Amino acid sequence: MVDRTVVAPPQIAGATFVGTKECSQCHEDVAGHFDTATHAKLAFADAKVGSTGCEACHGPGSLHVKSGGGRGTIINPEKSPETCFQCHNDKQGEFSLPNSHAVMHGKMSCSDCHEPHKGNALKGHGATLEAETETCTKCHTSQKGPFIFKHNAMKEGCTSCHNPHGSVNQKMLVSPDANLCLRCHATVSTTHAINAGDRDHRANIQNGTCWGQGCHEAVHGSNSSEALRY
Ligand code: HEC
Ligand code: HEC
Ligand code: HEC
Ligand code: HEC
Ligand code: HEC
Ligand code: HEC
Ligand code: HEC
Repeated sequence: MVDRTVVAPPQIAGATFVGTKECSQCHEDVAGHFDTATHAKLAFADAKVGSTGCEACHGPGSLHVKSGGGRGTIINPEKSPETCFQCHNDKQGEFSLPNSHAVMHGKMSCSDCHEPHKGNALKGHGATLEAETETCTKCHTSQKGPFIFKHNAMKEGCTSCHNPHGSVNQKMLVSPDANLCLRCHATVSTTHAINAGDRDHRANIQNGTCWGQGCHEAVHGSNSSEALRY
């Protein structure tokens, strides 16, 4: 999880901290509901930061305020995840894995999936799982359905099979092989047969992944087969 000891906000040369109240003078739309945000609830131990909630991510704001919002006087994390990595340094590693969302290349931002300014930082979290899935399916429309034959694994959310930050496995899967599916589908009987769907799957599993050609290719849902095939 998060390294709680690191609470060093980003730096801006020559600038000092002014506090959230200052920001709300001009950014009432953002500041007005900031007290509901995950990050507003964090007590920053560092005396330099104090209660300067906004500046924990945006950097010290004195030059920005003095210039009335002049260009290049404040950090906008949308353009770079560095500000998030200061505290969530483990995420830098995840996004550097071979299969990951292109956050490191600036093509995507943490805030495509996370809400920095209001409510829970995990979009849809605390609400319904459908809302969490919506975050993913606003871009990945082909996984959205509706499908005639649903895969009820989808009810558990996309993250039951994918690591949204990155993975060593193809397609950011949490597991590269049959174990991905057997977490939910395995019932190992006394004869050590792998029963998935009440059928001995030992021979099938030797042929490759469960979602390989000729098997359950339509793993997100199918319009033609109850067994999740194309
Ligand atoms: C005197 C008014 C004023 C104050 C006070 C103020 N801002 Fe701004 N801010 C602006 C203006 C004007 C802009 C540029 C227009 C816009 O995007 O709204 C801006 C833009 C920004 C941006 C976007 C910058 C970018 O490059 O995209 C951020 C982030 C920001 N402000 C954060 C803050 C924070 C944090 C504080 C408190 C430390 C703060 N502002 C205080 C007026 C202000
Ligand atoms: C957890 C980190 C974090 C905190 C704390 C935070 N912000 Fe932001 N802020 C972001 C990110 C990420 C973006 C860019 C993505 C976005 O607009 O959602 C952003 C964007 C902005 C922008 C530009 C918005 C735009 O539409 O271009 C303003 C203005 C801003 N923040 C003001 C504030 C103010 C004021 C506070 C405190 C009340 C604050 N932020 C607290 C992370 C944060
Ligand atoms: C100053 C340090 C700091 C910065 C900067 C920061 N965070 Fe956090 N963040 C935290 C802490 C501390 C927590 C609480 C972790 C916990 O409860 O274990 C947290 C919580 C979160 C959570 C929710 C975790 C959960 O379990 O609900 C998300 C998501 C998150 N941060 C994303 C971001 C993003 C995206 C950015 C950049 C826009 C960012 N953070 C910037 C310190 C920070
Ligand atoms: C593609 C969407 C997506 C992007 C982009 C993304 N996240 Fe996440 N993040 C998630 C989801 C979904 C979860 C919840 C994971 C779960 O429930 O297993 C999460 C969980 C987290 C958590 C809390 C749990 C944990 O793993 O520690 C933190 C902190 C976090 N993200 C930080 C970040 C930061 C920082 C960035 C940008 C550098 C980022 N995320 C970019 C989707 C995303
Ligand atoms: C802002 C848009 C956006 C959001 C939101 C988003 N993604 Fe992606 N995702 C992309 C892009 C762009 C790619 C890479 C393009 C491609 O190869 O199709 C991608 C690729 C993927 C891949 C395939 C990776 C590979 O190696 O081919 C998976 C799996 C994935 N995303 C899952 C998720 C999950 C799960 C979520 C929600 C937690 C999510 N995405 C949220 C844009 C998004
Ligand atoms: C039951 C496990 C499971 C769940 C749940 C799941 N996926 Fe997948 N997903 C897979 C597997 C397995 C693959 C690899 C398929 C392949 O390589 O043919 C995949 C591939 C993908 C790809 C890459 C597609 C491509 O053509 O390369 C995307 C994007 C994706 N999933 C998004 C999502 C989204 C969004 C959700 C949630 C709405 C989700 N997945 C839920 C197992 C799952
Ligand atoms: C998070 C749990 C979960 C995971 C992971 C999961 N499934 Fe499922 N799957 C279900 C549930 C629940 C059903 C509904 C039928 C049931 O109760 O067994 C289902 C049904 C199916 C069905 C339809 C069976 C039938 O007879 O109707 C197939 C085929 C299937 N899954 C294949 C897979 C494959 C392939 C994977 C791995 C890529 C996978 N599942 C991963 C939970 C999961």
